[in-house]
Amino acid sequence: MLRRTHTCGELRESHIGQTVNLNGWVNSYRDHGGLVFIDLRDRFGLTQLVFDPEGAANPSMHEAARKLRNEDVVAVRGTIRTRIGGENPKLATGKVELVVSELEVLNKTDNPPFLPDDFGQLPNEEIRLKHRYLDLRRTTMQKILTTRHNVMRATRNYFHENGFLEVETPILYKSTPEGAREFIVPCRNVPGTFYALPQSPQLFKQILMVSGCDRYMQICRCFRDEDPRADRQPEFSQVDLEMSFVRREHIMEMMEGFVRRVFGEVLGITVPALVRMPYRECLERFGIDRPDTRYGLEIKDISEIAAKCDFKVFKDALAKNPTARQFYSKKGVVKAIRIPGGAEKLTRKLTDGYSEWVKTFGAGGVAVVKTIKTPDGNIGFETGIAKFIDAPTVKPELIAALGLQVGDTVLFVADTYAVATKTLGELRQKVARDLGIVPEWGKMWNFLWMIDPPMFERNKDTGKWVALHHPFTAPRDDQAAAFVEAAEDDDETLESIVSAGYDVVLNGSEIGGGSIRIHDRAVQSKVFQLLGLSPEQAKEKFSFLLEALSYGAPPHGGIAFGLDRLVMHLVGSDNIRDVIAFPKTQIGADLMTRAPSSCTEDQMKQVHIKSTWVPPV
Ligand code: AMO
Repeated sequence: MLRRTHTCGELRESHIGQTVNLNGWVNSYRDHGGLVFIDLRDRFGLTQLVFDPEGAANPSMHEAARKLRNEDVVAVRGTIRTRIGGENPKLATGKVELVVSELEVLNKTDNPPFLPDDFGQLPNEEIRLKHRYLDLRRTTMQKILTTRHNVMRATRNYFHENGFLEVETPILYKSTPEGAREFIVPCRNVPGTFYALPQSPQLFKQILMVSGCDRYMQICRCFRDEDPRADRQPEFSQVDLEMSFVRREHIMEMMEGFVRRVFGEVLGITVPALVRMPYRECLERFGIDRPDTRYGLEIKDISEIAAKCDFKVFKDALAKNPTARQFYSKKGVVKAIRIPGGAEKLTRKLTDGYSEWVKTFGAGGVAVVKTIKTPDGNIGFETGIAKFIDAPTVKPELIAALGLQVGDTVLFVADTYAVATKTLGELRQKVARDLGIVPEWGKMWNFLWMIDPPMFERNKDTGKWVALHHPFTAPRDDQAAAFVEAAEDDDETLESIVSAGYDVVLNGSEIGGGSIRIHDRAVQSKVFQLLGLSPEQAKEKFSFLLEALSYGAPPHGGIAFGLDRLVMHLVGSDNIRDVIAFPKTQIGADLMTRAPSSCTEDQMKQVHIKSTWVPPV
């Protein structure tokens, strides 16, 4: 084979007159009777090849060139000259062309199901995933793979420069309660036992701190048997870290440096110091713990004003639990969002649609009102619940609280605190999309730290305590004593205890999450107990951790970034499958290899399992 001397993206005017070899795929061909033009493609670019029958030393080569078709694989040798037909400014190599003197057809292609052409008609994603090797040949996909590689390289360099050790941790692991359902692997050697694939290397990295590793990092695979979403895959990658002898501030400082390095190196962006927003503020203002602060539409609690109006929906909601006034309680509230200029921009059809849409979040509906100019030049209300809030005791207060102006729309949700907050948090994002006010990719990078989340919350279905991050997260320093002293049924105290956890949020997406860990065995045991693990269960599942904590565990903490999500932001994609070479579909399938697949009776026998599944008839 003609070994390549250059890539297809490399040749410039400085190469004119040189004889070079190129290898690649036929991207396009034009047969002009005599002359045959081929655009040859590899990962690095395109170069125009010219086959000229005049003076061709080998006429059969010209015939072979005429038979070339898209995606055939070839090697050529030839001389570089100025492009005779004029420069192609769209190509980096557009000033030159290669006049071919030797052609080797390395592999003819069958008629492909589609061409890897970013500008042509692409088939649906199913076909692209089935023939991923064709899809990945597209320039866009090659660029994404390159960006991903650059992120990994910048990551490793940054952490290496800061004294981190990259340590690999096991994939065959054991069940841990980190929240998600696990993938399990039957064990042949010990009948009836199973490994679990790690949801994250959480405990290994903590053990590495007890082992004196001091600073650990790994770009690792994590497995969670959850339904995939636009930003979630069952198998994904994390940039995983842990540091010893640190407080929250030290980790945040190191991670801001990391974010700055990656965004600086990959996109040339200067990331300013990250804003810190307590969990409670995130919920109050944005209805979500990962707020998108690129636009306003903030949520306001107008319960006290709403209590003065004679509107049954408000009254019923507020009556849900009028005495409990704590933050995380189930009390009824009325919350609202002001949409500036919404009277004109938000159609009746849209607002009617919102009332239906919010039912998915458990809300009864959305009350709507528009502001108009009254004949005396003041602000008045129109449509929807106008008559209820027009009362002189209500109207001025509402106008002041929401900062209303003529031409606005106000959306109200009245429900329990949890439902109203969640609903308006989601609605706020939907309205922003509907109004087209979410900045385009690349225009705004709003990073923030979400800090001070609660340690625990009661699961609304089971009533059991669950850890908001994971059970190894420590209470914030000033809360530790209260946690140790709190009785298990002291909901008020336990709900109010905040953890030393933190998330990195970018434009409304959680790109990383971590915490300072518990390094005290007694505190860790108490968390297990609160989460419903008996001392025996805790020992069975976590004796290694509890023991390690007893033998000189340093204070430590860490974080993990979602590598795929980082890359999604860096390339401006809203589909996680675009940034993973071989992703899974909505049902967790790999359409190319057809995983998952059944296995033989014999394979099952060897690992001592039997399937109870019966195919539907
Ligand atoms: P957490 O569960 O918050 O923390 O995960 C850290 C980050 O990983 C990304 N992520 C995902 N990305 C794609 N698909 C998924 N299914 C998925 N799940 C999570 C998110 C998230 O912010 N061990 C802890 C970290 C720690 O405490 O140090 C952990 O895994 O971007």
